[in-house]
Amino acid sequence: MKQGWLLLGLMVLGLSACEKDPNDPLHKEPTAYVATKVDPATIFPGGKFGMPVLPSDNPFTEEGIYLGRMLFYDPILSFDSTISCGSCHKQEYAFAEPKKLSTGIYGLQTGRNSSSLFNLAYSRKFFWDARQSTLRAQIFEPIQAHNEMAMTLPLLAKRLARSARYIEYFDKAFGSEPNVFDMSKALEQFLMTLVSKDSRFNGFFPGKFSLLTSEEKRGALLFNGLVDFDAVTGLATGADCFHCHGGALAQQNNPDMGGIANNGLDGNFSDKGYGAITGNPADRGLFKTPSLLNVAVTAPYMHDGRFATLDEVIDHYSDNVNYLSPTLSPMMSAHGNKQLKLTAQQKADLKAFLLTMTDNTFLTNPAYGNPFKQ
Ligand code: HEC
Ligand code: HEC
Repeated sequence: MKQGWLLLGLMVLGLSACEKDPNDPLHKEPTAYVATKVDPATIFPGGKFGMPVLPSDNPFTEEGIYLGRMLFYDPILSFDSTISCGSCHKQEYAFAEPKKLSTGIYGLQTGRNSSSLFNLAYSRKFFWDARQSTLRAQIFEPIQAHNEMAMTLPLLAKRLARSARYIEYFDKAFGSEPNVFDMSKALEQFLMTLVSKDSRFNGFFPGKFSLLTSEEKRGALLFNGLVDFDAVTGLATGADCFHCHGGALAQQNNPDMGGIANNGLDGNFSDKGYGAITGNPADRGLFKTPSLLNVAVTAPYMHDGRFATLDEVIDHYSDNVNYLSPTLSPMMSAHGNKQLKLTAQQKADLKAFLLTMTDNTFLTNPAYGNPFKQ
């Protein structure tokens, strides 16, 4: 009986070996290569951000991360080989793009502003409307979207399988032949290594506010103060940004605590955001709260890129919050339905504080750059 199984096993092995033509110039025997493990503690600053919850079935390896990086910058992921992930997510802009909407394949435009990409391992929801819960699932959307990369998965699998570079690297990273499942794991690994932790803000937050200039300090007090108004002057003493953009990540990642919110942009929603995903009227006009790290370089702002400058964003929160918006976050209506009416000085202070969040080390880190240009 045992022998019978052995025979069957050998036959199966023999059959699968025969599927490949050894004379194919691209044919390569799998190596016994063992990928080089990367300790998550070397990627994530546990002291500053805590350790993220990581997918247990996709351990970081040098080869996996590098494969993901190649895929991120490779236009062959799009149908006509013109658009890569990096076309719309550019490192110098914190992997966002300085355009209201991005241009995908055939000159078609995206429906929303390109998201910045960093500290994604800490995020629990992806896209402006929070429609995806894992990076691994997320990446299949731009690849297949008709106005982004317009690719089909069978064609992509075929293309990867014809590429000597990918035959080598899928083997090195996963011991597999190129396939879209391991492709999504490699991209997931690379995306999670995009960690922004070296802004001045991350150097002084939370304990060393003495390192701030007096203008930045006043801005920090507004940012981190509950909304209140001075009894004598009537001036706002707090602008309450921290409830939704607080902490070392400058982003609330808990969907129920301001991680997905309506910040008072509109009364009628041409884009229903999260509401279009859940179908719940109470979710109309709610969007994922973006991190404010690197916000100086991620213009234009909001899901539709409606604000060109940080000054316009600050004017919105100061003077133009739509209190009649039916799903306005309670944290915005905590303003007592009163505009903050910040003075020009207060606006400048708030902006100076936001500018401490730029992380030039991240924006220029060669480990995140296009590997084909080196
Ligand atoms: C044509 C432009 C374009 C291309 C190509 C593109 N993206 Fe995007 N990306 C966007 C836009 C626009 C959004 C926001 C879309 C939305 O929220 O509906 C986005 C959102 C994202 C997000 C969500 C970030 C967050 O914090 O929620 C991730 C992750 C991402 N893209 C990764 C990728 C990867 C990986 C690729 C390549 C496989 C890629 N993108 C290709 C334009 C693009
Ligand atoms: C109730 C939660 C909430 C509060 C409070 C809040 N925001 Fe926001 N913020 C959001 C959401 C949600 C978005 C995205 C909205 C959209 O695109 O529709 C956003 C977007 C932004 C953006 C644009 C970022 C980008 O990359 O596009 C900036 C800048 C910003 N907020 C700054 C502030 C400042 C400064 C304050 C305090 C005055 C503040 N926010 C208070 C939830 C909040």
